[in-house]
Amino acid sequence: MQEFYFDNSATTRPYPEVVEQISKVAGENYGNPSAMHEKGLEAEKIVKEARRRIAAFFRNREKEITFTSGGTEANNLAIKGAALRNRQRGNHLVTSEVEHPSVLNCFRYLEQIGFEVTYLPVNEKGLVNHDRLKDLISDKTILVSIMHVNNEIGTIQPLEKIGPLIKKKNPGALFHVDAVQSFTRLPMAINDWQVDLVSCSAHKIHGPRGAGCLWIREGTLLQPLLHGGGQENELRPGTENVPAIAGFGLAARLTGENYRKKTTPPGNLKLAFYRKLQHCGVEVYVNGPPPEDSAEHILNISFPGLPSEMFLHALEERGIYVSAGSACHSRRPEPSHILQALKLGKDRLESALRFSFSCYNNEQETEAAAEITAEVAKELKSIVN
Ligand SMILES: Cc1ncc(COP(=O)(O)O)c(C=O)c1O
Repeated sequence: MQEFYFDNSATTRPYPEVVEQISKVAGENYGNPSAMHEKGLEAEKIVKEARRRIAAFFRNREKEITFTSGGTEANNLAIKGAALRNRQRGNHLVTSEVEHPSVLNCFRYLEQIGFEVTYLPVNEKGLVNHDRLKDLISDKTILVSIMHVNNEIGTIQPLEKIGPLIKKKNPGALFHVDAVQSFTRLPMAINDWQVDLVSCSAHKIHGPRGAGCLWIREGTLLQPLLHGGGQENELRPGTENVPAIAGFGLAARLTGENYRKKTTPPGNLKLAFYRKLQHCGVEVYVNGPPPEDSAEHILNISFPGLPSEMFLHALEERGIYVSAGSACHSRRPEPSHILQALKLGKDRLESALRFSFSCYNNEQETEAAAEITAEVAKELKSIVN
């Protein structure tokens, strides 16, 4: 059976070059990068090269890249590290209702230990309300965290407006962006955004799981979450995962190049898929922004009357892999907090599926998958009714 992998927001298939690189580094360059002998220097050089490749997306500021075990750790270091280190300046933190759990749960923890957190609501497109944000920032606000691309509905927050608005109201408030879904796909406009901290992850860009980084603007003070050796500017101690870091660096380079080279970008595939479903007469509603306005790789749609989980498994039987919520909590029965924040009706909430595309998908398979999806929808409709 042909496999159609449309769950690229959850994780991506690693590039063969990345798999090869990881295996080579693990087998051959096993020195500890802190060691003073040749083997150590060799490993250190590999980490340095990966840092250079990642920094290329951040105006080549190599010393501002801190490697982590992924997006979750980068978000934890940014949010808890900033809040705990800057506590003497204020107690107020701001985020949005549609953040990833690795952001939201940091804020919930900080609330438990005495911080005051404001969770900004969003409109039907998943966009945060600027006026509301402007009004609530005070001289007590020490951190604002707003994601770039939403992992479930693909909303792209206008960070070039949000960042300056925060800094105008309180220049001392730090601004963190979870860019896990946009890194290498959209420009990291760190100066226009006036951002201080940006989180990235390797496995969303055809790199390995368990690697990521936090970009930290020079001069931004964070409290480390781990205590140990002096690695990563004393912010993230522990012997570096050199093979994964090497794979991350290579994946970033290749993704940047591949997305530019691709004759059919994922955005065209997404639109072709959606239009084909409509053409086949399937009743389908887009959740979040119109598909032309959202991130090119994410399409979240509801098929009223067809329960998500049932549909997901029926598609799986035909070789199509999709998601019914974000990967981290999609096995839980309750509808996603992101779709709930859009205030969708019950029917839309319970029938939502996310199709997410990558440079490994092509036009032919996308067209074929849309036809199969339409057939499955019709079959299920006759069973459910
Ligand atoms: C927006 C967003 N932030 C953070 C993460 C967590 O990244 P990681 O899986 O590397 O910990 C994810 C992963 O789904 C994500 O989509």
